[in-house]
Amino acid sequence: MDENPQFGSEHMKPIKKAVFPAGGLGTRFLPATKAMPKEMLPVVDKPLIEYAMDEARAAGIEEFVFVTGRGKVAIQNHFDAHVELEAELAARGKEDMLAKINASKPDPGQIAFVRQMQPLGLGHAVWCARTFVKDEPFAVLLADDLVNGDVPCLHEMVEVYNTHGGNVVALMEVPEQDTSKYGIVDPGADDGRLVEIKGLVEKPNREDAPSNLAIVGRYILQPEIIDVLSKGTLGAGGEIQLTDAMLELVGSQPFHGMRISGRRFDCGTKLGFLEANVAYALQRDDELGAVRSSVAQLLEEF
Ligand code: G1P
Repeated sequence: MDENPQFGSEHMKPIKKAVFPAGGLGTRFLPATKAMPKEMLPVVDKPLIEYAMDEARAAGIEEFVFVTGRGKVAIQNHFDAHVELEAELAARGKEDMLAKINASKPDPGQIAFVRQMQPLGLGHAVWCARTFVKDEPFAVLLADDLVNGDVPCLHEMVEVYNTHGGNVVALMEVPEQDTSKYGIVDPGADDGRLVEIKGLVEKPNREDAPSNLAIVGRYILQPEIIDVLSKGTLGAGGEIQLTDAMLELVGSQPFHGMRISGRRFDCGTKLGFLEANVAYALQRDDELGAVRSSVAQLLEEF
């Protein structure tokens, strides 16, 4: 695959920042999301946004910015200290619970929140994080996309970045009739895992799609994407699309796709969200050990 010497390892900045777009209204989950952000929906016992945070941390991210909007204050509270609860759990000797609530707590100053203010699309959400991103490459994680695997998805992508530099997106194959739900890439050289990206198109019809390789909500992007997004060009659905901005970087910077090795759950849909809950419960060996037989029983009953 082509290397651009400009992105040789000597000059490559490590990925230390992550942007979490979390401004969406979550209308698909109403009424559950009337007063609660969709990012706080739990898969078993942990909110979606915390899975994304944990994945980022496992990939070496040290600074986290959430792009939120009205009604999202629960996300802020979730990653803050909860003095009374912590004191109460400590007084009761509930060390395991304390460990759970502290597991994802960032250090003071590691976390920031910006408001998107207008629902102008994913590209706009990323652009809203520009003063935080500054001139460094950064990761973007969409909490709706939950990727379950032995190695966290973003960690694998950082390894790709450390070799190739530039921009990296996560990919998976989707049925041809589903291309209109995703950003789709135009693939070049493809070794079965890594794919050189020649082009990208947001939500193309089946007949216009350059492939069936779809973008999963994980990105490593160069800061130049912010300049492109600043133009505010509207794309599919009348929104400022991240995919369109990425297309403008193709050719001037290395651009690779990485087929994910894990299983992706689309937690932006009810079915995907339910599947994730069942799949994550099935992997637990605590009191949820009974879930397999419970599910079998339910299948017989209903
Ligand atoms: C967004 C992106 C799309 C990507 C998808 C992955 O779409 O715009 O390119 O394939 O996330 O989940 P959305 O699902 O927000 O419509």
